[in-house]
Parts: sequence; structure tokens; C-alpha cells
Amino acid sequence: MNKSFGNADPKLEAYTYRTFAPEDPFLVDVRGRAQAAGLPDIHVAPLDGLHLEVLCRLVGAKKAVEIGTLAGYSGTCLLRGMPPSGSLHTFEIDARHAAVARETFKRAGFEGRARIHVGPALERLAEIVADGPFDLVFIDADKSSYGAYTEWAAENLRHGGAVILDNAFLFGQIVDEPKGEAASAIRGMRRSHEVLARSGRFRSTMFPTGEGLAVGVKVA
Ligand code: SAH
Ligand code: DHB
Ligand code: MG
Repeated sequence: MNKSFGNADPKLEAYTYRTFAPEDPFLVDVRGRAQAAGLPDIHVAPLDGLHLEVLCRLVGAKKAVEIGTLAGYSGTCLLRGMPPSGSLHTFEIDARHAAVARETFKRAGFEGRARIHVGPALERLAEIVADGPFDLVFIDADKSSYGAYTEWAAENLRHGGAVILDNAFLFGQIVDEPKGEAASAIRGMRRSHEVLARSGRFRSTMFPTGEGLAVGVKVA
């Protein structure tokens, strides 16, 4: 039997969405407020949001890190997957995005459990190292830095902790020659996949969701 990679059957997608109900009214409202504030509509897909919550629960995460906050959609999913003692450090370069996310976390009752670090993540990640090691790192910001972010995760996750990459198929460009406008994103994403698949630090897989959700467990 030739099982397809992912599947494009809209009936199966509709079944999955109506059965597992990945998006509740709160998350619909997050998207609505983000749109009203003029933010880009690039939150994780609802089913990937649900994956994040469930992966947090599987790992037993209490200390998570997110790179790329936007309006707090995925951050809400991560916090939903953690117990009341769980907390999230989330990094966002754009102060306008951070303001919408701050309101999201307040409305969700996650004030005090979500700390938004405003600025370029590569510079700001050093601020939280002393708070580690962490249970889970979710990477969803500038694609050219995914390699560096994944290396940071390798250093700052506990054994058995998880790193998760959104957009791991890079909108289909992951298989393209790294040239032109997308070159640095292709190189960055490929470097992160090398760390996940071949560094010996992680045991990893690719969930073939619409965007590609790469997941690695730290083993060394
Ligand atoms: N994780 C969010 C979506 C993130 S979109 C969700 O699913 O709800 C990507 C975000 O990364 C944008 O808000 C963008 O401003 C931010 N970003 C881009 N480059 C960054 C950088 N160098 N450091 C921190 N944030 C960055
Ligand atoms: C873009 C970024 C994302 O993280 C995403 O999930 C979708 C689109 C973008 O920059 O266009
Ligand atoms: Mg993304």
C-alpha cells in the first residue's frame, strides 16, 4: 500500500477539524484581534496549535521557550499544555506584535506565566539561560536563524526535552537551490534540520503537516 505523504483529501481534513476541534472561540478571537491590529495572518495553523499543546503535555513541560510571539496564538497553545506552575519565555522583535500578545496572555489568564522579551531573539536569548534548562523550545521566527536557534536549543534543553520547528518545509522551498531571495532562509532551515537529524544531539522526526512540523527530542 502506497501511503501518501500527508494528504490532501479535504474530507479527511474536515473530519479531523470537526472531531478534534483544534480551535475554540478564544483562539478565533486572537486571530481577529491580530487582524484588527494589522498584524500578518501567519499564526500556526489551528491543528499545529493543538499539536503544540499536546506535545507540551507529552513532554510534561513546565518551562518552555518560544521564538516568534506574534499575537500570542501559539503561546496560548503552549501555556494550555502546561500545568499552572508552567511558564513561557517568548521572544518578539516587533513591539506592536508584543502589545497584542500581552493582551492575549492577559485575557487568557496567563499574565505572570508568559514573559515577552522584545528584541532580536539571537541577542536576547542569553538573558534566560540562567533560568534553564528548558523542557521545550518552539521556533517560529526568522527562518535564516533557525540553525542558530536549534543549536541554542541543543545547549539549553534538558535531556528528553523537545525542540519544535514551524514551517519546516519552508513553504515548499526547502528542496530548492539556496540562491536568490530565499537563500539564507533555505540555508538556515537546512542547518536546523542537520542539527536535528545528524548531530547526534537529537532523535527527530518530521510531522508532515501542511507547514511541516519538525520535532526533535534531546538525547545527548
Ligand atoms: N508563533 C506565532 C507566529 C510567529 S510569526 C504564532 O503561531 O502565533 C513570526 C514572528 O517572529 C513575527 O511576529 C516576527 O515579528 C517575529 N520575528 C521575526 N524575526 C525575529 C527575530 N529576529 N527575533 C524575534 N522575533 C522575530
Ligand atoms: C510566514 C512566517 C511563518 O512563521 C508562517 O508560519 C507563515 C508565514 C512568513 O513570514 O510569511
Ligand atoms: Mg510559522
